[in-house]
Amino acid sequence: MNTKIWIVDKYVDNLENNPQVVEAARFLQENEVVALPTETVYGLGGNAESDEAVEKIFAAKGRPSDNPLIIHIADKNQINAFVTELPKKAEILMERFWPGPLTIIFKKKDGVLSEKATAGLDTVAVRMPDHPVAIALLKKCGLPIAAPSANSSGKPSPTNAQHVVEDLNGKIAGVLDGGPTGVGVESTVLDCTEEIPIILRPGGITKEQLETVIGEVHLDAALSDEASKPKAPGMKYQHYAPNAPLFLVNGSREFLRRLIEEKQNEGLRVGVLATEESVEYYHGDVTIACGKRSELESVATALYETLRNFNQEKVDIIFSEMFPNTGVGHAIMNRLQKAAGNKIIHE
Ligand code: TXA
Ligand code: MG
Repeated sequence: MNTKIWIVDKYVDNLENNPQVVEAARFLQENEVVALPTETVYGLGGNAESDEAVEKIFAAKGRPSDNPLIIHIADKNQINAFVTELPKKAEILMERFWPGPLTIIFKKKDGVLSEKATAGLDTVAVRMPDHPVAIALLKKCGLPIAAPSANSSGKPSPTNAQHVVEDLNGKIAGVLDGGPTGVGVESTVLDCTEEIPIILRPGGITKEQLETVIGEVHLDAALSDEASKPKAPGMKYQHYAPNAPLFLVNGSREFLRRLIEEKQNEGLRVGVLATEESVEYYHGDVTIACGKRSELESVATALYETLRNFNQEKVDIIFSEMFPNTGVGHAIMNRLQKAAGNKIIHE
């Protein structure tokens, strides 16, 4: 299949009638799948009401069929069609954080969405992306759009259109290139079907931000305890993995320097994920400053691209600094731990 690339300037007016957006919207209506930019990562969109379209999403990504998709909407009223109830706390959160990187899980109304999109669950995950191109596309096609991250299953999520092309060229109908995404890590997934909402996946909206608005929020036990079964089916899979084994290093810069030297002495090509503050200290074969530690948002923005760069550089092993587990650091550490398959070296 020939994958079309549509380049769209997200700053122009009247995006809904931009010819590229119009064509991509028509593809979606014809149950083809297209990648689209969001504020978090690129998504691979398809008509959420169509089994045919949803099957194409799973096939292109090589995604296990038990892992449900997030439904993207452009207008809050759209959810009434496929949700049975709208809890008060969810309503408050939608008001405060939509459009934005917060996915909310609701009880599902049967018979509207493809059962394959929700992996047969009785709940549905919904979000409104904060990106002008995504919103224009959603409005133009007039459909709820199922969209997982537009990477091959297991790979780091795409934060620009080139990453999507690397993974999915020839497997999807098109890519709307709206430039690099901003947040860099995926949305926070919050289960609002319980009285006290539960974070199933940490992401762009932090626990602290949620608690300021609705009070107590729980964390799914699986986020801190490997033996627990995650409530979000996708959280049980290894994910975001670079090609070379990745180790998180819990210790001083001196300790990390010694680890790098040891491996270089063994003849390995060593990659190091550092920050702007620390990059000068390390002499890996490939040392990358992944944002600024003093601004964790910048680390989130750069994270997946950094992991992909280590693949391009063909390193044999990667060491990464660790980050505090608060604010957006929680999402960064969650993704790094998954990428590392939980391999941590303590000083
Ligand atoms: O920022 C994002 O959320 C991006 C952009 C493209 O919107 N999307 C994304 O989708 O990260 P995906 O498919 O890569 O991750 C969706 C996560 C998975 O862990 C999945 O298991 C979980 O959400 N999920 C979806 N529906 C669910 C449900 N009904 N109950 C529990 N977890 C659900
Ligand atoms: Mg994903």
